[in-house]
Amino acid sequence: MRIPEETVRQIQQTADIVDVVGDYVSLKKRGANLTACCPFHNEKTPSFNVNPARGIYKCFGCGKAGDSVKFIMDIEGIGFPEALRHLAKKYGIDIPETEQTPEDVAAQNERESLYIALNFAKKFYQEQLTQTDEGQSVGVSYFKERGFNDRTIGEFELGYSPEQWDALTKAALKAGFSLDILEKAGLILRREQDGKADAKVFDRFRARVIFPIHNLSGKVIAFGARILKADKNQPKYLNSPETEAGGVPLYHKSNVLYGIFQAKTAIRNDDVAFLVEGYTDVISLHQAGIHNVVASSGTALTLEQIRLIGRFTPNVTVLFDGDAAGVKASLRGMDLILEEGLNVKLCTFPEGHDPDSYVRAIGGEAFKAYVRDHATDFITFKAQLSLDEAGNDPFKRAGVIKDMVESIAKIPDAIKRSVFFQQTARMMGIDEGILIAEANRKFLTEKKKAAGRHSAGRADNRQSRIEPGEIPDRDSPVEGFTPDEFEIAPSPQRSVLSRHEEEFCRLLVCYGPRELEPGYTLMQYLLDELGTLDFQTPTHQKILTYARQSFARGEVPDAQEFLGHPDEDIRQESIGLVTERYSLSDNWVQMHQIHTPNEIELLDRMAHGNLLRLKKAVNEQRLEAVKQALSQTADAGEQEALLTEFMKIKRIDKALASELGIVVAG
Ligand code: UTP
Ligand code: MN
Repeated sequence: MRIPEETVRQIQQTADIVDVVGDYVSLKKRGANLTACCPFHNEKTPSFNVNPARGIYKCFGCGKAGDSVKFIMDIEGIGFPEALRHLAKKYGIDIPETEQTPEDVAAQNERESLYIALNFAKKFYQEQLTQTDEGQSVGVSYFKERGFNDRTIGEFELGYSPEQWDALTKAALKAGFSLDILEKAGLILRREQDGKADAKVFDRFRARVIFPIHNLSGKVIAFGARILKADKNQPKYLNSPETEAGGVPLYHKSNVLYGIFQAKTAIRNDDVAFLVEGYTDVISLHQAGIHNVVASSGTALTLEQIRLIGRFTPNVTVLFDGDAAGVKASLRGMDLILEEGLNVKLCTFPEGHDPDSYVRAIGGEAFKAYVRDHATDFITFKAQLSLDEAGNDPFKRAGVIKDMVESIAKIPDAIKRSVFFQQTARMMGIDEGILIAEANRKFLTEKKKAAGRHSAGRADNRQSRIEPGEIPDRDSPVEGFTPDEFEIAPSPQRSVLSRHEEEFCRLLVCYGPRELEPGYTLMQYLLDELGTLDFQTPTHQKILTYARQSFARGEVPDAQEFLGHPDEDIRQESIGLVTERYSLSDNWVQMHQIHTPNEIELLDRMAHGNLLRLKKAVNEQRLEAVKQALSQTADAGEQEALLTEFMKIKRIDKALASELGIVVAG
């Protein structure tokens, strides 16, 4: 089945890189490019870049790069022709079908064959549901009873497997699929008998309604199959086994979220994902107009699933079934979500209800309102639950403190942590300092343990990422700001100096009007301390100049003013600064409301550290320039002057270094 050149070109031209990649991650604009955390490797600072003008992507972390077609090949694990077909389908481009030659078939990789077989099975089950009497009277009636309409059945591609041993097997063999492929795809079971290899071959799913499980791009990778009548001897749901092709997992239960394909656009738009337990919860909510829903499908939530959500939003609301025992059990997995930096909320339902039954009882709009009113942030929820349980027992209450500290310490964002420490302390009626002290004690113990094992633990990672001239993490690791949280993603083209300039601008744009002391704004502090120094990156200089001019007029522009500035460069840069992953701006409104002395102190420290680093970087540049000049002159008088200059700069450098708390050699 050769795809004509003409069509190949058409597909390549139509498949917009931003659109194609956008099916798999949420891209954020950064200047002319877009960035995201790389979908090919795990990372917390985005190094994955998309260049829309050139139609290419590149990850500076893992090196993966290419155009739209290459992206599909990489992420779906399929070959060139199959990737073209995938894109053709996405964009409704017709591929003139010619006969498939044996070479074409042989060239198809195993993964592609499995996708094709799974797709065949999906269609088979759909036909069985809608086109046969048994499907209508058994399958469709079941779905109707559950309140699913035809449109929903179609959107989730629901199906039915008839009450026969080998209905699918027969149809698939007839269509030319081999038993090996069908088995690898998890669709059939083969039994040996009396020495005969395939004495018994039968369908895995029989007399069940079928829920296809899709990957991000809508390809079917597995099935869930529900029994129709309650039967104690059989599991309610049968699922596909874990499958792989060429050593790479195809369906790996813990990597998959049911409904992600149907939900991802809504998750991105609503900026929150609802996490439920079951297939039917997803479908019922979807039908009720709530589309941002995915299910962990009965398993405890895994890191991979959390990261999958994290590609589209940092906000997760977990919708739990009613009973308290279940809630408590699931709370354990929740720390994992915190660690990934996601914002977790919890919502429970009245006793006896799950999201499916509840939305059917009260309707979509009321359901949304219910979640809005009842979703509690995870930390508060957990603290409340544990405190209620502990009652007045001092030992139990001490246990709760330890427990809470453990959860909060896992939040990577320092400001959020600080807020939760305050909030929890208030709830428990104890001093916030006690919580922080406990957190630091824990952190140090773990750090020691990690050092003992010579393993690359969190703390070690952090240390190794500090560059020369950076301030080491000398303050309390948990409460304070750690450098790497606010470091800009490493970018090969940018100098250290430019990064410090950027951080200066970020503080200025995001927090300029904040008062460090009554009447003394952060902006004034930054400008005072910077003195007459200018920036080297033109856009940073533009921002600085605007700030200086405003200040001279007695004005202190806030983020809105930067964002609405008539100068395109200032506007663009400001957008980047307030939307960066490491910025605190997402909490801006919230932060204002919980404006505390503690927080101001943190800001003060950040600004101070930034100014020192900035000055040190400038100083180092000067030092380099003098060294250069020295090496190029033979004139004794000139050398003398340069050396004096050199010593002077060196002294400043030392002073800055010692203030930064580091020791430099020489
Ligand atoms: P539930 O029992 O809550 O299923 O299990 P449900 O989706 O609400 O099903 P209905 O409403 O009774 O039809 C939650 C999830 O756990 C997995 C399925 O993914 C299910 O959706 N599960 C459950 C299994 O895989 N096997 C089982 O036997 C039961
Ligand atoms: Mn249910």
